[in-house]
Amino acid sequence: MSPFTMTRTLPVDTTTAALREDVTDGLTRTPKRLPPKWFYDARGSELFEEITRLSEYYPTRAEREILIARAAEIADATGARTLVELGSGSSEKTHHLIRALPDLRAYVPVDVSESALELAGRALLTEHPELTVHAMVADFMNGLTLPDTPGPRLLAFLGGTIGNLLPSERAEFFTAVSSLLSPGDALLLGTDLVKDEATLVAAYDDAQGVTAAFNKNVLAVLNRELGADFNPADFDHLAVWNAEEEWIEMRLRARKELTAKIPSMDLAIHFAAGEEVRTEVSAKFREKKVRTELAAAGLESRRWWTDAQGRFALSLAVRT
Ligand code: AVJ
Repeated sequence: MSPFTMTRTLPVDTTTAALREDVTDGLTRTPKRLPPKWFYDARGSELFEEITRLSEYYPTRAEREILIARAAEIADATGARTLVELGSGSSEKTHHLIRALPDLRAYVPVDVSESALELAGRALLTEHPELTVHAMVADFMNGLTLPDTPGPRLLAFLGGTIGNLLPSERAEFFTAVSSLLSPGDALLLGTDLVKDEATLVAAYDDAQGVTAAFNKNVLAVLNRELGADFNPADFDHLAVWNAEEEWIEMRLRARKELTAKIPSMDLAIHFAAGEEVRTEVSAKFREKKVRTELAAAGLESRRWWTDAQGRFALSLAVRT
């Protein structure tokens, strides 16, 4: 069999239908909201890569520090023969892990972006020709079936992306992950941690305005995919710490009263001056909360590692 296979469980044309549904649901309610997954077209993915290099945006560097420091311990604790990575994107951080897993046979990157999978999968095979790569174009929230590769499996969900799910979605996600795993398989989870408000807000409202451009990019996605007529310049970028929920909210605020039209959906969306759309939540965690939520899904926490400054954590949990 070829060492590189690509499986698509996400039909190309469901994407626009799902976007329409999220727009109908999210922009006709009060307060308005959109799910963050629509940021990530080619431009949005590029802007996100740029965010990860900003001095204010610490999570990527903090997580990389932990992965490098703990890769050998992760290998020891799991003995993984298959590594599944959800939302693998460019897989950059994963290299540290793969190099440290001596028994690894198969790598299963899962992402909604086929081009990202193609690039990352092929690059990885050059460095690790002994691996079989089963790339999966799939939305991890919608019924993922894993290929038949040797156990034990280690499923990695890095970057703090778990924080972009709402609490109910998060519970659903942990249950789905747990049911993908066999007893003895493990989950490696990256979570950003609660810290002082100034640090958090700066990470989501950088001085150069890269995060603002990333946030407004969702309007360009609506314009291109749905033929909407949003003018990104009519909106301000906001990053707000919600202390009750312990999450950062990114919002777009209309600078004036306006109506955006989406003729293809027969929809006109009215904004009062100052009205906001919530475009993302990015939850920040404490150890206890992570443990409790994992346990509720049958995932027993075994290890908790943070970077030296205690900003970000990696947890290792085992399916019981
Ligand atoms: C996708 C979880 C890595 O919530 O920090 C970065 C996305 N949003 N800046 C996060 C994001 C604004 C990000 N992750």
